[in-house]
Amino acid sequence: MKFALVKNNKELGERAFFEIKQVLDAKPDAVIGFATGSTPLPLYAKMVDDYKKNGTSYKAVRAVNLDEYVGLDAKDKNSYARFMRENLFDHIDILPENTDIPNGMAQDLEAECARYSEMLSVTPRDIQILGIGANGHIGFNEPYTKKDSTTHIVSLTARTRADNAAGFKNPAAVPIYALTMGISEILAAKKIILLATGEKKAQAIYDMLRAREDLSCPATALRGHPDVTVILDKEAASLLKFDEWTPAE
Ligand code: PGA
Repeated sequence: MKFALVKNNKELGERAFFEIKQVLDAKPDAVIGFATGSTPLPLYAKMVDDYKKNGTSYKAVRAVNLDEYVGLDAKDKNSYARFMRENLFDHIDILPENTDIPNGMAQDLEAECARYSEMLSVTPRDIQILGIGANGHIGFNEPYTKKDSTTHIVSLTARTRADNAAGFKNPAAVPIYALTMGISEILAAKKIILLATGEKKAQAIYDMLRAREDLSCPATALRGHPDVTVILDKEAASLLKFDEWTPAE
């Protein structure tokens, strides 16, 4: 695992974009795994800004997303499908038909999980963007999710629902279930960029590196991946010791 310490959100966006741009320069038809949540927003802002200024093209790119709430329509303001359109896809030249996200409105959710897993198995990701939950989740793989999990229905923990309540009328309105890419599918990405900011993530970052690998912190699964870069600010890094660091180039 490599680490890059950034001073602020702007630098986080630039540093993460540098990783995406390297992948795109080598492979304009790369498959990119995107994440939702507030942490990657500076990256998406940077991608939009770069697209406007430099015209970096996403026409040949395929995008897949980590997760979606069950029961929210793609038009719902809290759906991750809408989040991706509003914060990124509508502002770059990616083709809508080249984007995929689990459908939380599917009649048959198990069949939707199977469809998504099948799609992922034939669409290997060149790079996967990840956030991390305060409880160490990656995607919506909550504590004790198995390492060999594929796309599945998850019952969100009370903590995750409380952490994600901001856009909802009240915390009880946060969906109870979600569909998420499984841990084995996250680990299948060639390169992983994990973004973390703020003191609220410090324990999860510490646990990702130091906790027993019993998946009480699902992010510990990333230790076995050969190409993970963690981009974080001082607050998220506050429980780490600097001599534990391998700096990213
Ligand atoms: P956040 O979510 O970026 O909104 O903190 C991250 C996550 O839960 O994975």
